[in-house]
Amino acid sequence: MDTPTAPTPAPDAPGDRRDFLTKAAAIAIGGAITVVPPVAGLCVFLDPLRRQSAAGASVLVASLNALAEGGEPKKFPVVADKVDAWNRATNVPIGAVYLQRLKDNKVRALNVVCPHAGCFVNYRAGENDFFCPCHDSRFSTDGAILDPKSPSPRPLDELPVEIRKGTEVWVTFQNFRAGEHKKIPV
Ligand code: FES
Repeated sequence: MDTPTAPTPAPDAPGDRRDFLTKAAAIAIGGAITVVPPVAGLCVFLDPLRRQSAAGASVLVASLNALAEGGEPKKFPVVADKVDAWNRATNVPIGAVYLQRLKDNKVRALNVVCPHAGCFVNYRAGENDFFCPCHDSRFSTDGAILDPKSPSPRPLDELPVEIRKGTEVWVTFQNFRAGEHKKIPV
């Protein structure tokens, strides 16, 4: 007489199907968790706006008509879209520049941030210089250090300017690390 054996469940029994679906779902979710972050990271890396923010974005700052040729430097806010890992804000002040119109429709742009420790310099019309109120650094209108004892390790940071459509003053805005002799973008 044969010994009775335990019945083998049919492969398509409802309990097995549930197990199969649960395992399949776990594998799919696990795969998504593994794959999505690198893909998202790649998108962040490839996104042109993010690359632009990292390298310094070109921003429309003023009209050439707002500057008199040979006139004094004038301060303008730099307003642009700001992007970080999670947020995108439009028309946010990201800094400020002094613009001075030179000959032949050339414009000089200087970042207002003092390279010593990050205070804002002010243009002084009476002295025709830039003065930092924090530790008394003085700079000429082209950004050069005036006082040899100045604590600033480098001149004011000049930024590239492009005139578009005849009158639009575009500045490639960038901040640089304070306290360094070289201009190191931040
Ligand atoms: S922050 Fe400008 S001189 Fe120190």
